[in-house]
Amino acid sequence: MAMNAPTITDIRALEIIDNRGRPTIRARVYVDTGHCGYADVPCGSSTGSYEAFDLRDGESRYSGRGVRRAIANIHDVLRPALLGQEVTAQRQLDHLMVELDGTKNKSRLGGNAILAISMAAAQAAAAALDMPLYRYLSAEGHVLAVPQACLINGGLHAGNDLDAQEFCIMPVGSPTMAEATRLVCEVFDTLKVVLEKKHGKLSTNFGEDGGFAPPLRASRQAMDLLSEAVEQAGYADDVVYGLDIAATPLYDRASGTYRFDGRQRTSDEMVAVMEELVLDYPKIVSIEDPMQQDDLEGWKAVVDALPGVLIVGDDLTATNMERLRLAIGAGAMTALLCKVNQIGTVTEAMDAARFAQRHRCPVVMSVRSGETEDDILTDISVALNAGVFKIGGPRGSDRGANFNRFLEIEAELGPVARYAGRDYARLA
Ligand code: PGA
Ligand code: ZN
Repeated sequence: MAMNAPTITDIRALEIIDNRGRPTIRARVYVDTGHCGYADVPCGSSTGSYEAFDLRDGESRYSGRGVRRAIANIHDVLRPALLGQEVTAQRQLDHLMVELDGTKNKSRLGGNAILAISMAAAQAAAAALDMPLYRYLSAEGHVLAVPQACLINGGLHAGNDLDAQEFCIMPVGSPTMAEATRLVCEVFDTLKVVLEKKHGKLSTNFGEDGGFAPPLRASRQAMDLLSEAVEQAGYADDVVYGLDIAATPLYDRASGTYRFDGRQRTSDEMVAVMEELVLDYPKIVSIEDPMQQDDLEGWKAVVDALPGVLIVGDDLTATNMERLRLAIGAGAMTALLCKVNQIGTVTEAMDAARFAQRHRCPVVMSVRSGETEDDILTDISVALNAGVFKIGGPRGSDRGANFNRFLEIEAELGPVARYAGRDYARLA
């Protein structure tokens, strides 16, 4: 029986598949208390260039996406260095892995290899201490974030002609997470009927975020359909909206313009488009990646033009402290999208989130398009008291996992639990 400091006795990793039938890593960290923690690594498709390196085999199997090399790095490099270490020393473990990798973007061992161990170690430590993970990560965590649920998909996440990637509802008027979840699912159901009636059965096929991917061309069409479904479901007063433009892949470097809603547009024109959208749909309270990741001036122009709207940095900041300092310093964003696999360790992701919160940037936790049933992000969100969680649509166990973990935590916390609701822009 271990005393106060449980130590790592073994680490095993396995190639599994994610929700898109692509390989990813499942890792298990074993400790001398007899406990074990496991974690699955997510993966994006609209990935920014400032993200931690996702190490893939590049061989013919799985179209080059195999993760055997990353797993070999876990077994041959990370495991020997971590055996015998205190599993509760998360910061030291993460630091040790970053040092062992030695590159800026974790390209030697793979951000995916390092993150697998980082998350599994946190789960193992919480289990060994007999604590829920959110409590292990923070004594303060009690806020259940507003789920930003993506019900209409476009961009790289859908086979339609919508340029913007995500049209999301945020149930800020719900009193609890349980009611917020119900609202999302009821609107999702209603939207299916609305879509089928207006655009036929094919319009109810799904996109990569677990929302619908109807054959639309313009952002306004998507907003009109969403609003109609919300109204029909009887929730007009309880819902606000969030968009992810995901502008980086819409940007054409050669011409310096964005393809958006059927036309090529300059940076200035994109600012005007965002302004018009918010003018026409005043319940849009959040816009993510309205500009490509290097157009800091464009970002600042959007921030200045839309003072009441969260301008959320995703590709811009990549959950990376250096990028975050740059963006905040330039006044280029007003909220941080936090994706743990963009940076590659739990410690660095939480540091980035807390840095943002200290600098008056609320945190939006976020899943990736490539996910598994792993629900660790919910615990991290609660630990950070984040106000928003970009969770995808409510379809599939990969999306259901985080909704369900929130429900579990809400029940477990009882009267201590606080649903962020209209206070979604909270700073922890
Ligand atoms: P990704 O998309 O996971 O495919 O990168 C999510 C996002 O852009 O927020
Ligand atoms: Zn995004």
